[in-house]
Amino acid sequence: LKHLLTVEALTDQEVMGLIRRGQEFKRGAKWTPAKNQYFATNLFFENSTRTHKSFEVAEKKLGINVIEFDESMSSVQKGETLYDTVLTMSAIGVDVAVIRHGDENYYDELIQSRTIQCSIINGGDGSGQHPTQCLLDLLTIYEEFGSFENLKVAIVGDITHSRVAKSNMQMLKRLGAKVYFSGPETWYDKSFEVYGHYLPLDELVEEVDVMMLLRVQHERHDEHESFSKEEYHQQYGLTIERAAKMKEHAIIMHPAPVNRDVEIADSLVESYKSRIVTQMSNGVFVRMAILEAILEGKS
Ligand code: CP
Repeated sequence: LKHLLTVEALTDQEVMGLIRRGQEFKRGAKWTPAKNQYFATNLFFENSTRTHKSFEVAEKKLGINVIEFDESMSSVQKGETLYDTVLTMSAIGVDVAVIRHGDENYYDELIQSRTIQCSIINGGDGSGQHPTQCLLDLLTIYEEFGSFENLKVAIVGDITHSRVAKSNMQMLKRLGAKVYFSGPETWYDKSFEVYGHYLPLDELVEEVDVMMLLRVQHERHDEHESFSKEEYHQQYGLTIERAAKMKEHAIIMHPAPVNRDVEIADSLVESYKSRIVTQMSNGVFVRMAILEAILEGKS
């Protein structure tokens, strides 16, 4: 693997390989690198806790040297572009750059460069894609059910602005799951119909195996848009009453950060049906698998 930019670019075999390798790392597998020194950097131009810090843990567990980058202390403040920042990292010997940026497809100019040599892992591009979140979500679902075939998965909430939703709907459908959508119709787009169907949440709640909730992304909304947390929770949130109707074996997921009592009732976040904390832990293992696959391609 040279880069990881979208999940769509991966074959089913590559996806399953990364999931299974993530499981092996979770069970304690070790990586023996071909080279004794690899360098990684995490370039985050949008806020992040989970993706940034779990990549850092994954890199350190693999013995990779992590080159710190803080946008506010970098030459970005002097007007340096993303391209020139990555060019610099590549020139000083960085093997892999994990990048989160607000612009969709920011990576196009980087991978077309003949000078930039380092691999790029997309840690989220605007409302575009979040491939590493998708892979950790797939690992979490696979651990639970052992297959994706005919699993009923609901993706609920602010779908239009969610890069997690886009990556997940594409890959879940390709792996054989039945995808359903719910949430405010203003945050739903007819183009999603190729992946699944929209249904009212109260119809879905009793049917699905996986209830995947999405964060309401206020930072991507019009600042004048009115919003009531209570109304959203009652109409589109996983309330305690709705959760009580879920199938016995069904699980709750959310990429986090969670707006407690908005997308999901506070007490459900760490409830027995919730895999939200497992998703965070699995992020480290799947990211170890991704880094290994990319660095082995370079060795
Ligand atoms: N799920 C996710 O991407 O979280 P962060 O924004 O904290 O990285």
